[in-house]
Amino acid sequence: MHAAPASPQVFGLFGRRRAENVNRMEQSGVHARTQKLIAGCIFLAAGWSPLLHSAGPAAIPVFTKVQSDYMLACGGCHGETGRTNARLVPDLADQVGHFMRTPEGRAYLVRLPNVASAVLDDAALAEVLNFMVWTIGGASAPADAARFSAREIGPMRSRPLNNVSLRAVRGDLVATLIAEHGAPETLRDYGSASP
Ligand code: HEC
Repeated sequence: MHAAPASPQVFGLFGRRRAENVNRMEQSGVHARTQKLIAGCIFLAAGWSPLLHSAGPAAIPVFTKVQSDYMLACGGCHGETGRTNARLVPDLADQVGHFMRTPEGRAYLVRLPNVASAVLDDAALAEVLNFMVWTIGGASAPADAARFSAREIGPMRSRPLNNVSLRAVRGDLVATLIAEHGAPETLRDYGSASP
């Protein structure tokens, strides 16, 4: 696959990690079609690109498996960087890790209907959740939080939070996280603390 440098402005969070992933992905050849598909979507959705004005072929971004899985299963609603319309969809960027402060918060991340029903097996979903918490979530997770494993999330996702008010469930969780576990007040809002 062609390996010209991608623009960090265009590929943001993903672009920063791209270079280190290129060799591995080139060797494996895995997910190339998915990556091209996603690349095409991002390219079209962006509507503009500095690459359009440069000479030579446009660079195709190369994603790891977990980045591809996140983009396909979650990125349409949550965006590449975990920020979309914070009035409708909670920001994940720099705040989602706060839910890792309690077992209930941890389970909430897995039992959300869109998460529990994602078309990913337990191992792939665990990796997407780890990517969400520690890459998209920045430094928001507590230092001693353990990574999700396939074995842990299997039973959790089989009990999705259907037929409940997610706003109410979130409200209760967040109140406890703030009052008893040191989470910031900003967690009450859907929008994240950082700009
Ligand atoms: C169809 C759009 C959609 C998709 C796809 C989606 N989400 Fe969500 N997500 C939402 C909305 C809307 C909410 C707010 C609660 C609700 O109504 O479900 C939410 C809430 C969340 C929350 C709770 C954050 C908080 O602050 O309370 C997390 C975490 C989350 N999603 C992660 C994911 C992950 C991981 C995936 C992919 C496996 C995913 N979502 C796929 C729309 C989506």
